[in-house]
Amino acid sequence: MNRLHLLGLVTTLLMAPAFADTQPKPPQDKQAFIADLMSRMTLDEKIGQLRLISIGKEMPKPQILKEIAAGRIGGTFNSVTRQENRPLQEAAANNSRLKIPIFFAYDVVHGHRTIFPISLAQASSWDMEAIERGGRISAIESAADGLDMTFAPMVDISRDPRWGRTSEGFGEDPYLVSRIAEVMVKAYQGGATPNQADSIMASVKHFALYGAVEGGRDYNAVDMSPMRMYQDYLPPYKAGLDAGAGGVMVALNSINGTPATSNTWLLQDLLRKEWGFKGVTISDHGAISELMRHGVARDGREAAKLAIKAGVDLSMHDELYASELPGLIESGEVDIREVDNAVREVLGAKWDMGLFADPFLRIGKAQDDSADPGVENLQHRDVARDVARKSMVLLENRRNTLPLEKQGTIALIGPLADSHIDMLGSWSASGAAKQTVTLRQGMQAALGDQARLLYARGANVTNDSHIVEYLNFLNWDDPEVVQDPRTPEAMIAEALKVAQQADVIVAAVGESRGMSHESSSRTSLDLPESQRELLRALKATGKPLVLVLMNGRPLTLKWEQANADAILETWYTGTEGGNAIADVLFGDYNPSGKLPISFPRSVGQIPTYYNHPRIGRPYQVGKPGNYTSQYFEEPNGPLYPFGYGLSYTDFELSPVRLSATKVRRGGKVEASVTVKNTGSRDGATVVQLYLQDVAASMIRPIKELKNFQKVSLKAGEEKVVRFDINEDDLKFYNLQMQYRAEPGEFNVQIGLDSQNVQQETFELE
Ligand code: NOJ
Repeated sequence: MNRLHLLGLVTTLLMAPAFADTQPKPPQDKQAFIADLMSRMTLDEKIGQLRLISIGKEMPKPQILKEIAAGRIGGTFNSVTRQENRPLQEAAANNSRLKIPIFFAYDVVHGHRTIFPISLAQASSWDMEAIERGGRISAIESAADGLDMTFAPMVDISRDPRWGRTSEGFGEDPYLVSRIAEVMVKAYQGGATPNQADSIMASVKHFALYGAVEGGRDYNAVDMSPMRMYQDYLPPYKAGLDAGAGGVMVALNSINGTPATSNTWLLQDLLRKEWGFKGVTISDHGAISELMRHGVARDGREAAKLAIKAGVDLSMHDELYASELPGLIESGEVDIREVDNAVREVLGAKWDMGLFADPFLRIGKAQDDSADPGVENLQHRDVARDVARKSMVLLENRRNTLPLEKQGTIALIGPLADSHIDMLGSWSASGAAKQTVTLRQGMQAALGDQARLLYARGANVTNDSHIVEYLNFLNWDDPEVVQDPRTPEAMIAEALKVAQQADVIVAAVGESRGMSHESSSRTSLDLPESQRELLRALKATGKPLVLVLMNGRPLTLKWEQANADAILETWYTGTEGGNAIADVLFGDYNPSGKLPISFPRSVGQIPTYYNHPRIGRPYQVGKPGNYTSQYFEEPNGPLYPFGYGLSYTDFELSPVRLSATKVRRGGKVEASVTVKNTGSRDGATVVQLYLQDVAASMIRPIKELKNFQKVSLKAGEEKVVRFDINEDDLKFYNLQMQYRAEPGEFNVQIGLDSQNVQQETFELE
């Protein structure tokens, strides 16, 4: 017996009580333990570990229990409560031959039972501490429901808002998304390794480049230069992994001609060798079979072979590993070592989740714990409210229409004003619609009897029955877009009657939550016609018109910008949304959010991301002229730029001060500005630092965000904000794919959005 074996045996003996009822003793050596365990596994048991099944209608419960006890399932997703998961774990950890625990995963993306604002909204807060709190609570709540892993954070850079999954990510900017990726992973995992009862493993997704699907059409192909990949799209995944994420979900799209699921360069050369990732890779739902549809595998056998060889460890809801790997190994087309590598990663993830030390770590053993997600969870509501109000962006506020006074009569109108389900946004885990606070409820609670609140629905989200049918078919068991059977005219007439009695109109308009979701790409980003008609009628009353937008992506808002007196972008705000929006509308909270993604003027101008490459004939605002890069029918550029957002107070920035105008390699420059709250209310803003490489060996972006600070200032208060700029901030991937800073001039731009900035220049010697 060699040393490793001996160690394994000793560890196994130490381990034995872990599966008995006595206090579990954590095994000491991960690698030795796994090596020993694997030496005792049959091929069937090994392949079983690679199978991740969805608990749902697909397989009856007795069958699942049998499969688990036979060692043919490695983990599950979509079963959520302790009661549901406990028998499954008992089948694995008590009844299977080797007693290998299974793990439970779920899409906990922006909250579990308490739902926080959608990811895009959280990114709008630019508040890492708020995001961290939301992530931590998500982990605590989901772990308490017996879950071990989340399929999150989703850190795909998205520059095309036609893509419905824009709602799930953190926007268009590599730096901002990377910062959030890091915070989220740490919050979920609660430390380097998620082996505590209140932590869950994070799996960064969708690896890679999913947000760059052509035309924003979901599941479409991606074609991208290596420089853009490394510079713009890959950093957030890397940041999540450097923060310790234990899992990576492989994307559904192809990259430069090879599906991610069969992409050896992506999953081995980049992920394992270059980045040193040591965790588990998970296919997306059914992605291995889709290799046939991509046209890179003739049949299921070839699909399984390509995926395992590329390095996909867990196969999500896809039976091809189970059906094909035995034959592939027998024929020698797949080496057992390739399967072993995958099994080792799955077992390693289970170790890291603490499941070998105690399979019931998160599930517990009690039989009487509450399991009903319908049961009100009040514990985290104050945090949800706070994160939600920090996530809203004030886009317009003419004549200080906002905040509203708590007096007189307010007309609240719109299809989203009282819709519980839409408060949740996409991927709402175990969030219960009936527990959400709608805007109507939130405003009513804020007003009490100080003012009269009138309500009318005014319109359906859309009148297009095909769209309604699609949305109701898409994902959910119960149809969630419920149409008001009245005619559009009757609904508008009612709304006008209400509006005429009011001093101000608040119109809650936007998208139903399913419109910004997986498989919800759009060709138009306008508000649906039913709602535009309503808004035109409300505008004609001549009353002040406040728009409260609920949507999961940038919309095209030319008419709304020109006609509304105020526009508050609330995204989907989650469980406490209505209270949080009311806080902002009535000035109990001064909005401080900034857009994490540009808003295009029209779909035809997409993409409008701010950090695009420089060009030879740039469009100049105010000086259009012929033969410049532009669309000639309308002003060019975003309607609302990246980093933009107003406040109820005003902020002023001093010119930029630099500590030096020349800097050597390895040195640093300090850039500082004084930011002053010149208005009469306390408030917060985000001071943003951008850099522009004046001339380089290849084309560089117009500017790139390199740092930011969220600053709170009392009325009249000022603060100096300082940023260190070092050589790393100046580096980029050059044409030889070397990550280098080049000597020469750099413009330092500091502003409160990406367009209005103050500039100074220094030189790297
Ligand atoms: C498919 C989605 O692309 C992915 O994001 C999600 O995690 C899985 N389904 C599981 O629900």
